[in-house]
Amino acid sequence: MTEATLFSPADLGALNLAHRVVMAPLTRMRALQPGNIPGPLNAEYYAQRATKGGLLIAEATQVSPQGQGYPGTPGIHTPEQVEGWKLVTDAVHAKGGLIVLQLWHVGRTSHSSFHAGQPPVSASAIRPPGQTMTAAWQMADTETPRALEVSELPALIQTYADATKNARASGFDGVELHSANGYLLDQFLQDGTNHRTDTYGGAIENRVRLPLEVLDAIIGAWSADRVGIRLSPYGSFGGMSESNTEALFSHMIRETSKRRIAYLHLIEARVDGGSEETVTNAPDVTATFRGLFEGPVIAAGGFTAQSAETEIATHRADAVAFGRLFISNPDLVERIRHHKDLNPYNRATFYGGTDIGYTDYPAAA
Ligand SMILES: Cc1cc2nc3c(=O)[nH]c(=O)nc-3n(C[C@H](O)[C@H](O)[C@H](O)COP(=O)(O)O)c2cc1C
Repeated sequence: MTEATLFSPADLGALNLAHRVVMAPLTRMRALQPGNIPGPLNAEYYAQRATKGGLLIAEATQVSPQGQGYPGTPGIHTPEQVEGWKLVTDAVHAKGGLIVLQLWHVGRTSHSSFHAGQPPVSASAIRPPGQTMTAAWQMADTETPRALEVSELPALIQTYADATKNARASGFDGVELHSANGYLLDQFLQDGTNHRTDTYGGAIENRVRLPLEVLDAIIGAWSADRVGIRLSPYGSFGGMSESNTEALFSHMIRETSKRRIAYLHLIEARVDGGSEETVTNAPDVTATFRGLFEGPVIAAGGFTAQSAETEIATHRADAVAFGRLFISNPDLVERIRHHKDLNPYNRATFYGGTDIGYTDYPAAA
């Protein structure tokens, strides 16, 4: 094997990376209103983080109004959103960067205020724990979702295919299917949230059906070598649970591998997406599943510059995605390359608001 480093090139399908420091998808809830449309501020934010041959994974983006669960998140289902995203992709491409769009349907992680008073949808009518944010930016108790009918699924799958075509029209270099973090496709995968008794529930082969049908649809809408998928085995974000995680995700990843897609993106379960907590004794996700996927793997979750370098040097993964550190370090790639100190991030400005905590983090001198 040739020696790989964070700064050696890597091909993820049709995505030819000059280095392996990837920006993780990060919801920032700063799309223009009304219409959830990306605008100039978003373009500036992504352009700040773009590097020649560097891959950015744009924030989770709803494929339909039904797929929205937080205020201010962008969509990719209206002509205005397609035009808005062009500002972003043009700005990233002007710096020689690559950008893929993460395709999102939140499922039950939503609130009736987004859906004209109707409940959110999911695999089964199982209420998530805790609270959720309304369309009016207020916290409210979660609601019991409505289980999707089998007859509704073809139209749902089509929204992902249409979103893929829209992403392509917006100038993205590819799409990443969000099948992680307790959102709709994860709700179908895991048996804590999927109690269905039809062909989409019960056996593992049934629970992977919808994510794979969506994956096939987006491949059909563009090309396998421009499609990635994100999975979060053992993750508990969104109140997720599963009785046999290794068997479920092994099957899912083997099936995904057959599709010859650009990459598999795995999130290590050691980080808890919603807080600064570290999960103790979390299973080693990459070590458990990497061998089942015959293609490039992006690893994410709690990496430092040093641990990322080791991850690549030991061939545990082909690229490493950074989330929180990319929020506070627009020039994260150059800081890592030159072993410079990193800016700390401010969690208070992660979600919503203005340029503060978004485009005003300084680059290193
Ligand atoms: C503010 C914030 C927003 C996030 N939004 C998304 C998202 O839109 N899609 C997603 O798959 N993960 C999302 N995540 C998870 C990150 O992509 C990443 O997996 C996580 O932050 C762990 O990586 P880190 O330790 O490098 O931050 C988000 C995390 C944070 C902190």
